[in-house]
Amino acid sequence: MLKHLATFLFLIVISFTACCQRVSIIPQPVSVKEGKGDFVISQKTIISAIDKEDVKSANFFNDYLFKIYGFKLPVNKQKSGKFIEISTRKSTRAPATDRYTLTVTPNAIRLVGDTYNASFYGIQSLIQLLPVQVSSSLAVPAVTIVDSPRFAYRGMHLDVGRHFFPVSFVKKYIDYIALHKMNYFHWHLTEDQGWRMEIKKYPKLTEIGACRNGTIIGHHPGIGNDSIRYCGFYTQDEIKEVVKYATDRRITVIPEIEMPGHAEAALTSYPFLGCPGTGPYQVQQGWGVFNNVFCAGKDSTFQFIQDVLDEVLTLFPSQYIHIGGDESPKTNWKICPRCQARIKEQGLKDEHELQSYFIQRIEKYLNGKGRQIIGWDEILEGGLAPNATVMSWRGEEGGIAAAKQNHKVIMTPATYVYFDHSQVQKEDSLHIGGYLPLEKVYSYEPVPKELNEEQGKYVLGAQANVWTEYMPYESKIEYMVFPRMSALSEVLWSPKEARNWSNFQPRLQNQFKRYDLWKANYSKAFLEGKDK
Ligand code: ACM
Ligand code: ZN
Repeated sequence: MLKHLATFLFLIVISFTACCQRVSIIPQPVSVKEGKGDFVISQKTIISAIDKEDVKSANFFNDYLFKIYGFKLPVNKQKSGKFIEISTRKSTRAPATDRYTLTVTPNAIRLVGDTYNASFYGIQSLIQLLPVQVSSSLAVPAVTIVDSPRFAYRGMHLDVGRHFFPVSFVKKYIDYIALHKMNYFHWHLTEDQGWRMEIKKYPKLTEIGACRNGTIIGHHPGIGNDSIRYCGFYTQDEIKEVVKYATDRRITVIPEIEMPGHAEAALTSYPFLGCPGTGPYQVQQGWGVFNNVFCAGKDSTFQFIQDVLDEVLTLFPSQYIHIGGDESPKTNWKICPRCQARIKEQGLKDEHELQSYFIQRIEKYLNGKGRQIIGWDEILEGGLAPNATVMSWRGEEGGIAAAKQNHKVIMTPATYVYFDHSQVQKEDSLHIGGYLPLEKVYSYEPVPKELNEEQGKYVLGAQANVWTEYMPYESKIEYMVFPRMSALSEVLWSPKEARNWSNFQPRLQNQFKRYDLWKANYSKAFLEGKDK
């Protein structure tokens, strides 16, 4: 009883603080100086933007206004009356810092970015200065904000293999990423349970590999199978559309093509890709790790992967291509004459070195095309490919080891940023397991203390992973990512010293109102004090 009373009083205090805070932005900006009075946006307010890229930022703002408040503003090259001016300095200072300054006075809103990205981030802050009540005249509090991100890599991942999500939802997810000033979308496109990307040279990948004949019911290993055929893939035109949509929002899409494991949908489509004597293969209907992986002994496997990657490269301009590398059992390789012959021919010690050979061969191919690979931390085993970036997921150790070898690192440790874990101790809905409350996400420090200052610079940032075994529909994804995504955005954007849990909580109260405006689903575990 006492505990409930304490929670109740606490919620009253933070709601009160939230109601009276004029500026409530997540992630917390570097510097906020509140002024006097308001700038009132009405339907006559003009947005002045000259540069084509600044017009894109203006359009994002306008689309938001229209969606939430039901009106748009004229975008002009001139300034007149009361106006919102968006401009970019195109700073030649190296490296560009993505810094913006947003100044609101009763007569004008001026946003100046050092880069186009920065101006776009300034728009996200402006959006968070808008009232959370729908109205046709919007009071924006006077303020001067000077702001720039702490980390260069601020990512969200989405697994569309276990469950498929249409382009309309992928775009919505990209908007959520943009609204949180994040800049990478890691699109996990291939899995044991479905190959989700059209490849013109290998049509069976989607004719066969994009469908499974059922899905287990309940938690792995399941209490039955629904026997419902489940299909889905993106055409190359749809992928182009998504990449453009993301690019307009200053987000890089990193495609992930999994190898050598998590590839059974590909093997089912083209059985020659597996080790001789293994199979038959099936597009999997349950979850977990499967033994049927690409054969590392056949040159035809590498030819296939290179052909696939050639098409991937035409669609994704990203410097980084994610090649997976996780959870690849060596069972088949141990009994495969072709894989064993490869080990011998290359003078490799064991199957771990064979995996390293596999990844290095693909890295060499992609480097030759001017791209860089990212792999899950298993790519450290058997020797790291020379230029690889490591995504550390089995805790922080992989990231620490890679940074100590002067390799770039993106931190995604399951203990802090796996959003498939529950946000409440006793979660009613099906989820993978694990407990990751909001406060734990908020407490995450991406640069491990084991690294010295030089080594710490190899940590580009962090990312939350959203594996969808137990997220079969869109509102479940929203429920799993919100509000944890808001906490992560602050971890990644705000200065380390600015991170403050008691200061974050009242701002989060406002953020919940924004989720409502977006009609997004979210977990109320924190809001209702149920996540302790
Ligand atoms: C992973 O969660 N298997 C990268
Ligand atoms: Zn083999």
